[in-house]
Amino acid sequence: MTPSTDWRSFRLDASEAERGLEKLRVSQEGMDVRSALAQDPLRVDQLSWQLDGLHLDASKQRWDKETLDGLISLAEEAGVKQAIEDQFSGATINHTEGRAVLHMALRGRPEDGYQVDGKGVMDEVLATRGRLLDFVDEVHEKKAQGTVTDVINIGIGGSDLGPAMACKALRRFASGPKAHFVSNVDGAHIESVLEQLDPAKTMVVVVSKTFTTQETMANAEIAKSWLRKANLDLDQHLVAVSTNLDATQAFGVPLDRTFGFENWVGGRYSMWGPVGMCIALSVGRTHFEAFLEGARHVDQHVQSSELENNLPVVLALLGHWNQNHLGMRSHAVIPYAEDLGRLPAYLQQADMESNGKSAGRTGEPVSWNTGAVVWGEPGTNSQHAFFQLLHQGTEIHPVDFIAFRKPTSGHVQMHDKLLANAVAQAEALLMGKDAEDDEPHRNFPGNRPSTFFLFDELSPFSVGQLVALHEHRIFIQGVIWGIASFDQWGVELGKALANALLPELEGKSSEVPHDASTQSLVDLIRG
Ligand code: F6P
Repeated sequence: MTPSTDWRSFRLDASEAERGLEKLRVSQEGMDVRSALAQDPLRVDQLSWQLDGLHLDASKQRWDKETLDGLISLAEEAGVKQAIEDQFSGATINHTEGRAVLHMALRGRPEDGYQVDGKGVMDEVLATRGRLLDFVDEVHEKKAQGTVTDVINIGIGGSDLGPAMACKALRRFASGPKAHFVSNVDGAHIESVLEQLDPAKTMVVVVSKTFTTQETMANAEIAKSWLRKANLDLDQHLVAVSTNLDATQAFGVPLDRTFGFENWVGGRYSMWGPVGMCIALSVGRTHFEAFLEGARHVDQHVQSSELENNLPVVLALLGHWNQNHLGMRSHAVIPYAEDLGRLPAYLQQADMESNGKSAGRTGEPVSWNTGAVVWGEPGTNSQHAFFQLLHQGTEIHPVDFIAFRKPTSGHVQMHDKLLANAVAQAEALLMGKDAEDDEPHRNFPGNRPSTFFLFDELSPFSVGQLVALHEHRIFIQGVIWGIASFDQWGVELGKALANALLPELEGKSSEVPHDASTQSLVDLIRG
């Protein structure tokens, strides 16, 4: 076993295990997974894992048991176990913002005993969850009476993507008001939503951790005027979710319609608490609780499993291997479930905002790749769009296939077709095909890696599992890469410049100096 270092100062360029992995890469150069699968009867078992209704098969990836062992040594040396323990203990692991990272408490049970700064947080979490679910019951009654038919979530980034993804994913479990999402500061977004709705029967939920985000506040003002114009009592139609209760009150939302949360919940990790209001409103109390429970099972798994059977750890290591040893810089996520259509967009923020960093935890620059470019679209649509490049392009992009054994719609006869496509695409990427008559345009090189996530069913529990697997995978990858996964300073500069530019475009000031290209755009816009 490799001795572990302090994960907070671990650097890959000083890692013995990482050097061993590079040697292994050289010796495994040109690995042909097709032959490996043909020759090694243990390969599929050794590179597949099971977890509560999930079968995860990574045997089509360009690695083997020896690679996995080397990667596990890296996780040991990087102090991954301690990092996980520290996160769950409520330590200040988000050191650049001086905060704990404890979104797991939002899906916890009383016995989980989460603490921050030595103080238990579950009483407060459960009280807020209780209020949230009582509110959900109340709105469901109003839905039954026909007085609330629609709810609009106004938020952006973590205050939008997770809830929007989960509401769509759980469409078949919906029993509450229809959920709509408005995020963009392009007025076309809110316009296209409001024009379908009756303000008298609509609930507007303004979700913003800071309650200062330009896009959200602009959309919230428009929604408020829309309600006012209809002579409605704002108190009955507006709800706020935030950590900034002064700002929610100043906006005019009474405290009893406001749901708070703590700074130890990061925006992109927040859908388990009040930020998930629209998920809970849509699917109701019982399904929302099942969604939390799916994620909680993964929390227990990540804490209690040995590294080699710990799915978030294994996925984090595989991502590192693909990125930093095999040079595969992107990561395609293809759900074979129309209802998971927003999963790639949600994962883009979760992953790229967390791990798109080039300063190491200790401040020195990193000399290895960090966050992968995450992208994707549901299958089978994506097969008729960009799969050409996956099969025959010059670069190799590992793919996650996500599929469900049970039908994901009432049209059960279509499900076999959907699954046949998912499995066949993974097989085609792997096996390739030599062109007949050596016609190069018809040649499929094959040996292209993918991981297959096969869940029993698309349910609140499995969606909770899937999201929590990625949340933990992202943090563990950040530990291996020695970066600070929980801040997002990289988004601040653009926001500040937009605020500075706005008065210029409004003709109120023209004093801000710009580069020549920017100045010419400003001039063109101002006319
Ligand atoms: O732009 C980045 C960001 O800060 C995200 O991290 C966050 O999820 C989003 O903006 C929205 O922030 P808020 O919830 O404070 O409105």
